[in-house]
Amino acid sequence: SSHYIHWLLVTLVNELVSERCYKTDETSPPALTDLCLTHVSQNLECFCVKRPDGSLCFREAVLFPQELADQLLAKMATEGLLNDSTVGVFRHCEYLRLRRACIRTARISAEAFQKALCPHRLLELDAARVNADLTIPDILQGLATNKYCQESLQRLVLTGLTMSSLEEPIRYPFSSLQGLRSLSLANVDFYDSGLVDVCSLPRLESLDLSNTSVTNLSPLLGLKERLRSLTLHQLKRLEMSTAQLLGVIGQLDVLQHLDISDDKQFTSDVARQLLGQPGILPALVSLDVSGRKQVTDAAVKAFVEKRPGMTFVGLLATDAGFSDFLSGEGNLKVTGEANETQICEALRRYSEREGFVREALFHLFSLTHVMEKPRPDILKLVVLGMKNHPATLNVQLAASACVFNLTKQDLAAGMPVRLLSIVTQLLLEAMRTFPNHQQVARNVFFCFFFLSLFARFEAAKLVMQWLCNHEDQNMQRMAVAIISILAAKLSTEQTAQLGAELFIVKQLLHIVHQKATQGVVDATLKFTLSALWNLTDESPTTCRHFIENQGLDLFIKVLEVESSIQQKVLGLLNNIAEVRELHVELMVQGFLDHISTLLHSPEVEVSYFAAGILAHLTSRGEEAWTLSPKLRSSLLEQLHDVIMKWPAPECEMVAYRSFNPFFPLLECFHTPGVQLWAAWAMQHVCSKNAARYCSMLLEEGGLQQLELVHTHPQTHKDVKLLAKSILESLQRHRARTGQPAHKSPAAATKTSQR
Ligand SMILES: *[C@@H]1O[C@H](CO)[C@@H](O)[C@H](O)[C@H]1NC(C)=O
Ligand SMILES: *[C@@H]1O[C@H](CO)[C@@H](O)[C@H](O)[C@H]1NC(C)=O
Ligand SMILES: *[C@@H]1O[C@H](CO)[C@@H](O)[C@H](O)[C@H]1NC(C)=O
Ligand SMILES: *[C@@H]1O[C@H](CO)[C@@H](O)[C@H](O)[C@H]1NC(C)=O
Ligand SMILES: *[C@@H]1O[C@H](CO)[C@@H](O)[C@H](O)[C@H]1NC(C)=O
Repeated sequence: SSHYIHWLLVTLVNELVSERCYKTDETSPPALTDLCLTHVSQNLECFCVKRPDGSLCFREAVLFPQELADQLLAKMATEGLLNDSTVGVFRHCEYLRLRRACIRTARISAEAFQKALCPHRLLELDAARVNADLTIPDILQGLATNKYCQESLQRLVLTGLTMSSLEEPIRYPFSSLQGLRSLSLANVDFYDSGLVDVCSLPRLESLDLSNTSVTNLSPLLGLKERLRSLTLHQLKRLEMSTAQLLGVIGQLDVLQHLDISDDKQFTSDVARQLLGQPGILPALVSLDVSGRKQVTDAAVKAFVEKRPGMTFVGLLATDAGFSDFLSGEGNLKVTGEANETQICEALRRYSEREGFVREALFHLFSLTHVMEKPRPDILKLVVLGMKNHPATLNVQLAASACVFNLTKQDLAAGMPVRLLSIVTQLLLEAMRTFPNHQQVARNVFFCFFFLSLFARFEAAKLVMQWLCNHEDQNMQRMAVAIISILAAKLSTEQTAQLGAELFIVKQLLHIVHQKATQGVVDATLKFTLSALWNLTDESPTTCRHFIENQGLDLFIKVLEVESSIQQKVLGLLNNIAEVRELHVELMVQGFLDHISTLLHSPEVEVSYFAAGILAHLTSRGEEAWTLSPKLRSSLLEQLHDVIMKWPAPECEMVAYRSFNPFFPLLECFHTPGVQLWAAWAMQHVCSKNAARYCSMLLEEGGLQQLELVHTHPQTHKDVKLLAKSILESLQRHRARTGQPAHKSPAAATKTSQR
């Protein structure tokens, strides 16, 4: 309907202007419907009103195409957005008609389930791993409230649900779902009595009993004319001999898919006997014996050759799968560990089975060192395993090790951006789940070297939190290295936000203090100083935290320790000196004496930053100067002399995010030393990196400022010369790029991205 199309377009436009679109990669743009559904599910409240019971209801009657209704529900469930309130939109079953309902891993109550889902005439219901408040009896009872639904339901997935906490007889048996063709009860506390009930279903063709507590499978004979698919992964309580088991299975003549895999590596030889029994299961096309011992390539080959229609054999964690015949390349798919094809097939098929996921990841890891090309296809499979088993340590360990190898150095650049950002979120989640596990943290830290662009703020905070609770030296070095990389890559707002977290500044200062006390100058100290330098850049709050936590005294001490780190220390002190309210803290005789000594350092990198501090302080004029006026004029004179002697440095000494802190200095016509420093700094970066800094200077209105300095009658001739030289650079840049000479209206609010 036109109403619906209008609504879809509005949604789409919203999505296009949101940041998400820019992050997507060319090679994997999400489908349009997917984008729209994401937008709707994440902003559901904007489209809805609340009912008195708190549940949501679409404000306008939006008629969804039926398939989209299914997709919306599934999306809300997988993104963790489905709860008692949001599921309310589906109560309108005439507008949002559900057929194939997926509420996997959702958190909803029995009552909300009944009100929102049971009025629909469902064909399928996938309730795998929903929260414990919704039990199997609740679901059966809910379905019983709608006679049509009870009849129409063909597929029901109840993986991982609770059967019942009470030992009361089941009032709504499975056998009331007369249309049911497929039922999954994997990981359910399900017993023999239930199996008898299930096996009386008149249409049942597919049954999954993995990891249930059934002891005897004889009731299956009731399904012997119909059962096409039987999954018996890891039947932990089975009390049947191999002969009895094969006696039952052998009578299921129409069976096409049989899974008797087991990751507990029981010694039972059921797989060997099955493979060796002539004529058994003639219709079979798919057999899974992963994890079973005593399976040989020869036996599998003989079995498959008798059944030319076979399309799949599961051989992970067996001793088989190594011959060419089982490579997994052709029509016969194979899970196993012999090569990449088999391992990837295992990750795909077994993504819900933690033991097999771990096993497959383990084998994948040993393959990753020969991978020289980016492999997003494989990374996606690793992601799937991580997502499905967030709380399984062994899976997270193996997966994070694989992620590291798959994204290292240049490899990350070849991956879709969206995938990398999902990976980063999962790594962060792993760190949150296992906050004290050294190896998890180590793997995640390693990954962050390459993923730091996506991790951003959250990642930096988590790494810092880790740092606060652990003293291990190697990890400490890695953590501060990551922080320093992040701090240099974030936008000005983000760095300011990060630095404003008091505990971060405290912790970094703590590390500097430790190193200063020990008199050690190492990589950890250097990374820490870099991080602090970048975090204080254009962030007055961070600068204040620094001062309030005795950073100044500490830094003066560090200055005395070692000359190789003077540049970083002075760079940070420059940032402090840019904050006018903190000048009073810096106007201390001892401090200024120290800085003026460094002003005469033979190294221009040191002298430059010392000069910067003095320029900011002396720019304040006599009235704000609390020390002797003689000192001030002497410092100004020294400043002028020193700057005039600086040679042109060979490389870029410093990176600036904007020129804003320099403009007030250019206006100080009474103190040419101060103007000289600002102009020299501008001239320096503009000559080293014209593309970046000339355009930044034009954007921020520098041209007008410099013209004023150049023509002003009071300007000292040395300053004039520098201003002229910068103006020439700007002219050349404009001739090359055609950039306008005036401040762009957006410049005032623009974030200067690095
Ligand atoms: C339900 O989920 C939505 C979306 O995540 C959230 O805004 C809301 O607070 C949740 N409501 C309840 C009752 O949990
Ligand atoms: C097996 O099922 C039980 C419930 O009966 C569950 O607690 C357990 O986590 C399941 N095991 C696996 C590996 O999923
Ligand atoms: C898998 O192994 C078979 C031999 O067993 C080989 O022919 C095939 O090329 C391998 N595939 C890959 C992707 O390595
Ligand atoms: C992957 O990890 C292994 C084991 O640490 C290592 O030997 C190998 O070089 C790594 N591969 C890559 C591509 O770095
Ligand atoms: C960030 O730190 C690095 C040194 O580690 C320095 O070169 C750079 O100029 C700093 N950038 C800013 C904007 O503070």
